[in-house]
Amino acid sequence: MDLLLPNLPDAASQLRTIFQAFSDLLFILDEDSRILDYKAGDPGLLYVPPEAFLGRRIQDVLPLEVAEKIAAAIQRLKEGGEPVTVDYPLTIGDRRLWFEARLVSLPPRHIIVLVRDITAKKQIEEQARRQLGHLAALRSIDVAIASSLDLKALLTQVLAQVISRLNIDAADILLLAPQQQTLEFAAGVGFRSNALQHTSLRIGQGYAGQAVLQNQMIEIPDLPRGGADFLRSPNFSREGFMRYFAVPLVSKGGPRGVLEIFNREPLDPDPEWLDFMQTLAGQAAVAIDNARLFGELQSTNAELAGAYDIVIEGWARALDLRDRDTEGHTRRVTELALDLARFLGLDESSLVHIRRGAILHDIGKVAIPDSILLKPAPLTPAEWQVMRQHPGYARELLAPIPFLTPAIDIPHYHHEKWDGSGYPDGLAGANIPLMARLFAVVDVFDALTSDRPYRPAWRRADALEYIRAGAGSHFDPEIAGQFLRMIAK
Ligand code: C2E
Ligand code: SIN
Ligand code: SIN
Ligand code: FE
Repeated sequence: MDLLLPNLPDAASQLRTIFQAFSDLLFILDEDSRILDYKAGDPGLLYVPPEAFLGRRIQDVLPLEVAEKIAAAIQRLKEGGEPVTVDYPLTIGDRRLWFEARLVSLPPRHIIVLVRDITAKKQIEEQARRQLGHLAALRSIDVAIASSLDLKALLTQVLAQVISRLNIDAADILLLAPQQQTLEFAAGVGFRSNALQHTSLRIGQGYAGQAVLQNQMIEIPDLPRGGADFLRSPNFSREGFMRYFAVPLVSKGGPRGVLEIFNREPLDPDPEWLDFMQTLAGQAAVAIDNARLFGELQSTNAELAGAYDIVIEGWARALDLRDRDTEGHTRRVTELALDLARFLGLDESSLVHIRRGAILHDIGKVAIPDSILLKPAPLTPAEWQVMRQHPGYARELLAPIPFLTPAIDIPHYHHEKWDGSGYPDGLAGANIPLMARLFAVVDVFDALTSDRPYRPAWRRADALEYIRAGAGSHFDPEIAGQFLRMIAK
């Protein structure tokens, strides 16, 4: 080095110069870690005044935890020779600061400790970490909202996030019951007792009721002193809560409930904490909306489906009673069609549509005048023309009802024939929807074995013979064969 840089001053004066220029903290230690000298660009960063550390071991000056870290770093430096870096927090005055110490050996036996104030960097890191945590929390709530339709389970997940992210002891959600306009306990996490599980508050009643009424957060710093409200629960005092927040849950649609936050210790929330609490409350409100919406949709669907089934059965019965002496035909063809579908191994999911289609197969006959429908004699060509409209009428009638769309093939195509001679469209073979091919066999068999205004019932054996004879002309031969096999059993 001297050879390469012949004009530089000697090592000692180099060091002195560096000392002068150094703007953070720098300590020079001897082989026993005693502080021989120091330079403080900012004396405000010194943990103790110079007279308290000069000549003492650095480990003996610093608080225990930091001292242990430094001692370990010195040990590592002595073993490896490579520079070692450690960071540690120190409270200096009333400021909590973070330092990064870089230990470098100064041959032959000394150590230089360069100390930088990294508080700002740590704060940014910490903030980034918290924000990442917040994002993760919101994301997990989003996922829960998308995947969970059970409101209580969902709210419990939201509360778990609330507790861990806000670092509080307990939280619950009271839901606003829309009809009664009361706040009812829905979910809680972190409680020692079930003290609050029977909560039911009117709007305006108690802190939670006030939060909804005023549409703003209610904050109680010291519950034991201000806690008259919690008369709502006689056991509440056993929880030992001190700090309390009631945050209204509000979505686009209006108030949904209240998020209650409890802490057993004092709590000094900063703006970021409060902000995140509001964000979580917003998420909870969305969760409630989604779950309710879905619940309503489902029950509406179920009610509608139930209502439709009742309505279509009513239609069919009315038709049966008009066109025949008994209402048995519809029930019989429906059961027989389902039996045949199972016998053919059709998918379970298609059975509900076969059932509805069978019930409605002749619904188009509502448009056929009594004079034709009930004529106790063969139809004239003109009457036949009218009668052949009934599958088309059925389609017109049912097409606007979405939940019947998958069932419509039976009413629409049950008079098509395998050889293409049927109506309304003259479809042939596999162009005739499977459900309709299946149903045609069942319909003719039951029609032949029943009394009609235009003729008495056929004998069963004759009807079966008619099906056998029609296999491949009127009926899908495969299905007709299976039907006969099924009946034979
Ligand atoms: P439907 O009485 O329910 O009969 C359904 C299907 O069973 C008939 O479709 C036909 O394929 C078969 N079928 C029923 N009865 C007989 C029968 O005595 N002989 C034969 N060979 N097949 C029979 P189709 O022929 O398209 O008739 C559709 C609907 O037209 C019948 O439903 C019934 O309401 C009406 N219809 C058919 N023929 C007459 C008739 O001679 N007089 C009256 N008033 N209505 C008739
Ligand atoms: C000291 O003041 O002795 C050490 C200060 C520090 O490591 O930040
Ligand atoms: C109906 O299914 O409602 C009537 C059955 C029929 O007329 O064949
Ligand atoms: Fe028909």
